Amino acid sequence: MERTFVILKPDAVQRGLVGEIIGRFERRGLKLVAMKLVQVSDQLARQHYAVHEQRPFFKGLISYITSAPVVALVLEGTNAIIAVRNTVGATKPADAAPGTIRADFGLEIGRNLVHASDGPETAVSEIALWFGEDLVDWQRANDAWIFE
Ligand code: RTP
Ligand code: MG
Repeated sequence: MERTFVILKPDAVQRGLVGEIIGRFERRGLKLVAMKLVQVSDQLARQHYAVHEQRPFFKGLISYITSAPVVALVLEGTNAIIAVRNTVGATKPADAAPGTIRADFGLEIGRNLVHASDGPETAVSEIALWFGEDLVDWQRANDAWIFE
């Protein structure tokens, strides 16, 4: 079983798309194991996006992610990391496949609604950064109908 970290970015929260987006992950069979509404600090934003520090879009990215509250969550399931990335869609919404979140709700790269961990190491470090040990271990009643 794999865990991945997801942020519903400020545009998703401001546009009232929190329920719609989380619903897509739930319907796919992913299990919520942590969730919170966060006004992201400059420090947390810089830590989270440290890998992009030298990029020309870094300043805009930090102001975007700190501009309004976000919803941070951890999802669990078989192949959760790649499954969530595929449900989210390509970074540029204009290139994203129809039916993905970014294609269905977005147009621009700087307003692409969702962040999702891009691999096992980033998932572990992002979950630790945002939630520490604060995850909920629980048995879901319909697991046998989702996991073989
Ligand atoms: P994310 O980290 O948010 O899940 O997105 P991603 O893996 O699909 O894309 P990544 O390359 O990690 O970029 C992180 C975020 O930075 C913004 N960005 N802007 N203006 C630009 O050229 C540009 N490139 C990236 C996007 O908000 C992207 O999600
Ligand atoms: Mg990324």
